[in-house]
Amino acid sequence: MNPWAQFYTPQSAGQLLVSAMHSKQADTVVDIGVGSGQLLRAARARWQDARLYAADIDHQHVEAARNCFPEAVCRKLDALRICLPAKLGLEEGQADVAVCNPPYLPVTDLPEIHDILRAADLHDCFSAKRVTTEIIFIAQNLRLLRPGGELAVIVPDGLATHSHYAELRQALCERHGLYRVIQLPDRFFAGTEARTHIFYLRKQGKPVSTIRLVGATPNGDLAEEVAIVPDSARTRLDYSFYAHAVSAPLATITLRDLGAEIVRGMFTHQECRKQAFPFFHTTDFKRFPDGRVIYPGHVDYPERWGARAGDILVPRVGARCLHYTAKVVSGQPVFTDCVYRIRVEARWRQAVWNALSSEAGRNWRIQAAHGVCARVLGKEVLLNFPTRVAE
Ligand SMILES: C[S@@+](CC[C@H](N)C(=O)[O-])C[C@H]1O[C@@H](n2cnc3c(N)ncnc32)[C@H](O)[C@@H]1O
Repeated sequence: MNPWAQFYTPQSAGQLLVSAMHSKQADTVVDIGVGSGQLLRAARARWQDARLYAADIDHQHVEAARNCFPEAVCRKLDALRICLPAKLGLEEGQADVAVCNPPYLPVTDLPEIHDILRAADLHDCFSAKRVTTEIIFIAQNLRLLRPGGELAVIVPDGLATHSHYAELRQALCERHGLYRVIQLPDRFFAGTEARTHIFYLRKQGKPVSTIRLVGATPNGDLAEEVAIVPDSARTRLDYSFYAHAVSAPLATITLRDLGAEIVRGMFTHQECRKQAFPFFHTTDFKRFPDGRVIYPGHVDYPERWGARAGDILVPRVGARCLHYTAKVVSGQPVFTDCVYRIRVEARWRQAVWNALSSEAGRNWRIQAAHGVCARVLGKEVLLNFPTRVAE
């Protein structure tokens, strides 16, 4: 158990994060949740004359920061409190640059949270039950920055990809000039499975015409950039998704456009086993190597439980199975909640099957899934799957 989510930035990532920022000059630099100080160290190397401010909730980190940065203001503070700027000895709107690798934790009901989000103009763009510490840290950094001041913040994959945060991403583009996202390599932080990204923002900055997405290797080398229009940020902001989407030779008619019905199974794998249903789970894809699923006879289950001839099945969740595709040829297996049943009009079936089972389609699904170990493909995301359909 790590109650303060203490995972530390490797030195290479500190340098990478800072070197991709635009600010040529900075008089005041802040690092909230300074930890072992890698980000502040990289910032000090770049903006050598800047006055440094650091805060952490862990007094050992604050002591260590005081030793490493004797010239800095280092305070033991809870960054989730509205009084953060005053306690740090800064006015709101005073900092030129903020660097941050925040903790990723759920936020329990704190009365000040709404005021912090409101002060950063981020109070109206996600549901209250989705508030997490990293969002509060983003808001606090924005409070501390002057208009036009720059924030580089390391965020979890969900903020870049999940539909729950579509409006937050839009707000960061429209209200705080989000201009670049760097995707860090998977499992970059020792002790975590997380995929992370660096968001680059300018407080109250105008929306940019294109957002630059790029992937980083563990040594800090950068892949070729992909530029997206800010409208796409609502959908997602991860480099790997667009890098594959760009190379995929697929047209833009989506499963949604084709009126596809996508449902996940009603029962867990365990429930299916207990009930002795003839069932189809993710482990069954490899039993049908040509993708043609054949089950014996007719079973009288409610229609919603099972798949029937013509339905396409794809994994919803899994570690190494997301590339599979299957189509039901006979029988009516109950499908588990790890599997999606895709139903489209008969005239589109072959095209949808070809697209989903093609190499580009399989890559698309793998890249579109969230998470690192057990990856999950969201239904809303899958509805956006592009299919090539002959006119
Ligand atoms: C993910 S670590 C990152 C540390 C460091 N910035 C780095 O990049 O290596 C998050 C840091 O935030 C600190 N932290 C967690 N909750 C905090 C809070 N409520 N207020 C201030 N700091 C907090 C932790 O002690 C930890 O040092």
